[in-house]
Amino acid sequence: MKILLLGKSGQVGWELQRALAPLGDVVALDRYGGDGLCGDLADLPGLERTVQTVRPQVIVNAAAYTAVDKAESEAELARRINAEAPGVLARAAARQQALLVHYSTDYVFDGSGSRPWREEDATAPLSVYGRTKYEGEQAIATSGCRHLIFRTSWVYGARGGNFAKTMLRLAREREQLNVIDDQVGAPTGADLLADVTAHAIRHLLPPMRHNDLTPSGLYHLAAAGETSWHGYARFVLECAQQAGQALKAGPQQVLAIPTSAYPTPARRPHNSRLDTRRLQNTFGLALPHWQSGVARLLAEIL
Ligand SMILES: NC(=O)c1ccc[n+]([C@@H]2O[C@H](COP(=O)([O-])OP(=O)(O)OC[C@H]3O[C@@H](n4cnc5c(N)ncnc54)[C@H](OP(=O)(O)O)[C@@H]3O)[C@@H](O)[C@H]2O)c1
Repeated sequence: MKILLLGKSGQVGWELQRALAPLGDVVALDRYGGDGLCGDLADLPGLERTVQTVRPQVIVNAAAYTAVDKAESEAELARRINAEAPGVLARAAARQQALLVHYSTDYVFDGSGSRPWREEDATAPLSVYGRTKYEGEQAIATSGCRHLIFRTSWVYGARGGNFAKTMLRLAREREQLNVIDDQVGAPTGADLLADVTAHAIRHLLPPMRHNDLTPSGLYHLAAAGETSWHGYARFVLECAQQAGQALKAGPQQVLAIPTSAYPTPARRPHNSRLDTRRLQNTFGLALPHWQSGVARLLAEIL
């Protein structure tokens, strides 16, 4: 099986390089491309040429404009990368009968209420990022290509910066941390996203199943359970203390603040809970609790 992976150096892209490797021949690109291939999602003709040249059976798009606050002042670029580029990939996939795998976000919702969002719930993004990600979903859904779109939330990876590392650093420097407690979601590991992606691709291909049997479409994918950023921060510091780390601020010194006390250019949803039953039932998968993934991350980085 030939797989084209875009965004290979992001949190999810990095883990996908590992998880997709046993499935076949993976051509993995970042924005700088390689071997004469364009991997830049802002270069729409270049992207189309890449798909034509590689002729993959599966395209996995882990690249995105993810700077949520910056997107408010760079809407055009965010739209090209998050909405137009997935449209180009989807139309190319449709022509070549390839499967397109793409990632989206709970930021397509307005964050109201406290019920976990289902795939069919009405969208109402609060930010440019959320809007462009929704437009990307639509471009794929209307292209006629076979696709999997995984909406996820609060992604972390062991590589690069992440919320847990920031909390650990601040807890070593300061005696008290203020962390938002009125946004609720599930921290989800990039490794889990990559592993579920590989399972889902295996489930669909090969052999090609008839279209009417194919569970192509939109799925919510996040770790089980829920917490606030405040609960997440406390859990990180509890684990760090148990591991014998010297901290100036322990879990009890993490104070809860409302979102209104931490203004940002982009509005964020209060309710980021995702109902993942469709994914679990369709692919026969169980999603682990967010704490097990974060504990594992901390075991790696502490
Ligand atoms: N992070 C989250 O909390 C979160 C939550 C929900 C959904 N998601 C979705 O999950 C997917 C993966 O996100 P992630 O967490 O892995 O994000 P990430 O770590 O920010 O990775 C995104 C990657 O896209 C690349 N990229 C940006 N502009 C590009 C361009 N013009 N051409 C090619 N590559 C470009 C970035 O490259 P550079 O490093 O060179 O900029 C980066 O490697 C995205 O679709 C995102 O919307 C993320």
